[in-house]
Amino acid sequence: MAVSVLYLAAEADPFIKVGGLGDVAGTLPGEINLAAQQSGIQLQVEVVIPYHPALHLPTSPDELGSFQVRTSAGQEEVTVYRVGSRNATYYLLSSKTISSTPSAYSSDDLMDGRKYAFFSLAAVAFPAFINHTVEIIHANDWHTALTLYYLKSKPEPRPKAVLSIHNLAFLGGGTSAALPAYGFQPAHEPFLPDWAEMLPLPMGISAADLIVPVSPGYAAEILTPEFGCGLEAFLNSRKTDTKGIVNGIDTTTWDPSADPYLSSNFTASTLSDRSENKSAIQKITGLQLAPEIPLLAAISRLDYQKGIDVLFEALLLLPADVPWQCILLGTGNLGLEEQAKILQEKYPEKFRALLTFDNPLAHQIYAGADIFLMPSRYEPCGISQLISQRYGALPVARATGGLKDTIFPGGAATGTGYLFTKLDAATLAATILQAIKDYNNKKIWQLGQKRAMSMDVSWRSSANLHIQAYLQLLENSKHMEAV
Ligand code: GLC
Repeated sequence: MAVSVLYLAAEADPFIKVGGLGDVAGTLPGEINLAAQQSGIQLQVEVVIPYHPALHLPTSPDELGSFQVRTSAGQEEVTVYRVGSRNATYYLLSSKTISSTPSAYSSDDLMDGRKYAFFSLAAVAFPAFINHTVEIIHANDWHTALTLYYLKSKPEPRPKAVLSIHNLAFLGGGTSAALPAYGFQPAHEPFLPDWAEMLPLPMGISAADLIVPVSPGYAAEILTPEFGCGLEAFLNSRKTDTKGIVNGIDTTTWDPSADPYLSSNFTASTLSDRSENKSAIQKITGLQLAPEIPLLAAISRLDYQKGIDVLFEALLLLPADVPWQCILLGTGNLGLEEQAKILQEKYPEKFRALLTFDNPLAHQIYAGADIFLMPSRYEPCGISQLISQRYGALPVARATGGLKDTIFPGGAATGTGYLFTKLDAATLAATILQAIKDYNNKKIWQLGQKRAMSMDVSWRSSANLHIQAYLQLLENSKHMEAV
């Protein structure tokens, strides 16, 4: 019998994607299945997500039936749908409460609290509905963390609990008042501060057998006051049950040699074909058609986490006699959007703010930019730096979390990108200038591009590490039973 893993997430591409969690939940489960199959390991991951009314369903899903979930308010019916995607089965759970808000997250914390508290009860009841024995439940972030907490109230034998942390800063604040109606009691744990006892993410952490931050770098950082969000002592107490695993990217979607959105496809050995992409993006954005001017780019949610404010300041510090162009693609914080517009007015020849979400354009920018900017304040893993390296745009990034784990420092000469530690405009500007200097030495630059493009950024090693972690967890519990 195959080991059965139930993977829970609030979002999963291509059905719904709000952030990086959507990419991961839409790809990793199938990659784990593929890796297990290829190594002859009997293990199957199946995914469960809420049926948000905004789900985009390419094919109409099979309706499998329904089951009842009891809450203190009475019974609620949950209807189950099934659809396959990228080597994995996705189950969609629909109910009055789960489907009460259109998208994965709303602006009403209490509504979201009710939605995910109820989803968690439904997810624990779900294996019985499909008549499955599940060995592992793998939840992600605060939204599905409550599943693990609820699971712990069930008698043994029960599935092992795994929790991935994609962003510790989102603890599920504002949802506490919604939880008692679904039977949730505060978590009492040594080192868990009082204020965190009724917050979904810490509750989930307290119940998890294994905690998986999305990179080893982030796993270490969250043990410190700077990144621990006030939970560092508690997380330190769970250190031996924590293992950081870095994400990958879908190398079929992100393949510069076959990407249909590019003006010109290229590989590490046909780098001269890359330049057509730079002219194309200069043309599209109305920048001067100049192959020799270094083209910087950032593709990002515009928010504080991403250090976009520092980027704006740094661009203002670049000396006037150094030519550069910069394209920013993304939406987000209105204040930052405003600042971006102001910068474009100040630098009409150099700076373009494309305040929109445009996937084809993003592909073209990765392929055309020379230098990719990621000055994140913190970055649990980061996906854009993996894409940019695969597309030969060398990253300039803050040495934090997953960025530190996935970019080889030293610049084009010896590495795959540029890492800086101190997050201020002067340091970022100096690092950009270093990258521009290297860019002007074509030989060195191409060496860096080739090194970056040949890095393994696929999901394969991440998938294998997840399989090992799952099997280890089951192995440990066998030993526990034997003692
Ligand atoms: C969150 C993090 C990001 C990570 C993604 C997927 O969005 O902020 O760093 O890459 O989750 O794990």
